[in-house]
Amino acid sequence: MPSQAETMQRSLELNLFFLRIMKEHALFLQLGFTQKDRALAMQAQELHRRLEALMSQAVRLSKSYISEPVMASGELFTRYTEEAERLTQHFTGIPTGIELTRQEYVVGGGSMPPPAMREEVERLNRAAMGLTRQLLAFKEQVYRSVTSCTIVTKNYPLFLDHLVREARHYLEMLQALLTSGMPESPLHKAEMEYFWNEIMGEHAQFIDGLLDPTEKALKETSRVFEAEFERLHAEAGAARSMLQMLPGVTQASETATEQLSEFKSAGTRGIITCKIRSVILPLQADHVLREAAHYLRMLREPPGM
Ligand SMILES: [Fe+2]
Ligand SMILES: [Fe+2]
Repeated sequence: MPSQAETMQRSLELNLFFLRIMKEHALFLQLGFTQKDRALAMQAQELHRRLEALMSQAVRLSKSYISEPVMASGELFTRYTEEAERLTQHFTGIPTGIELTRQEYVVGGGSMPPPAMREEVERLNRAAMGLTRQLLAFKEQVYRSVTSCTIVTKNYPLFLDHLVREARHYLEMLQALLTSGMPESPLHKAEMEYFWNEIMGEHAQFIDGLLDPTEKALKETSRVFEAEFERLHAEAGAARSMLQMLPGVTQASETATEQLSEFKSAGTRGIITCKIRSVILPLQADHVLREAAHYLRMLREPPGM
């Protein structure tokens, strides 16, 4: 059972990672709507604004309490994030919160949060939960409208479903923190790998689908990752009922995620420097890179942590 201070630190780290992810989802949704669906775009914009405000609170609370492994992991920001935000803002005209990213560079320090902070951290967790539930409801609504052909967006239906599952996953993690601390059993680890291996496989599918048709070699590599993660997703699923399989699956998932992360990193660099042709926003490329970094850190966490 983690101590109260550990639970607080994990709450701050989880919120820093996921609030940024959720705010970027709101931005991707906003950009996907047609002119006719301006009202939906406005709703997404409002969610983006509120998520950014909450993330700003999380950054303020986190100062000097974020552990070294999380700071170094690249899940909070990468070496590309600031430039990806600057370019995305330039291309879309929508402010991306670069100042917040700069503030994040100095949240590390690795101290344990003092007991006096407990209420504030719990309040942050509850606010994150409330706002993520609203974002989730919005994503589900958009997904239903798209799959029933009521509206058209520039986002793939599978991408919308992917955003729905990531929001649900964040809510489950928050729920666990509010009740019993972070889940740590081997079964939870298998569940975690089952979840993220599918997400990694879908990233490979999205990259394949959003690259220009002329980028044949990169599309080919994406498809190799897609097949690899489909296999690892199935294996992690099987490991849930055969836990003796888990160490092997974890090892294979780590190796594959390291490789995918390198591929995404090179892709982000290529998109930022205009060396790769695609319809991928720089911030979208950096987003999937950070999700891989988050997953990698969790894969590397020793059991019982
Ligand atoms: Fe995401
Ligand atoms: Fe994702």
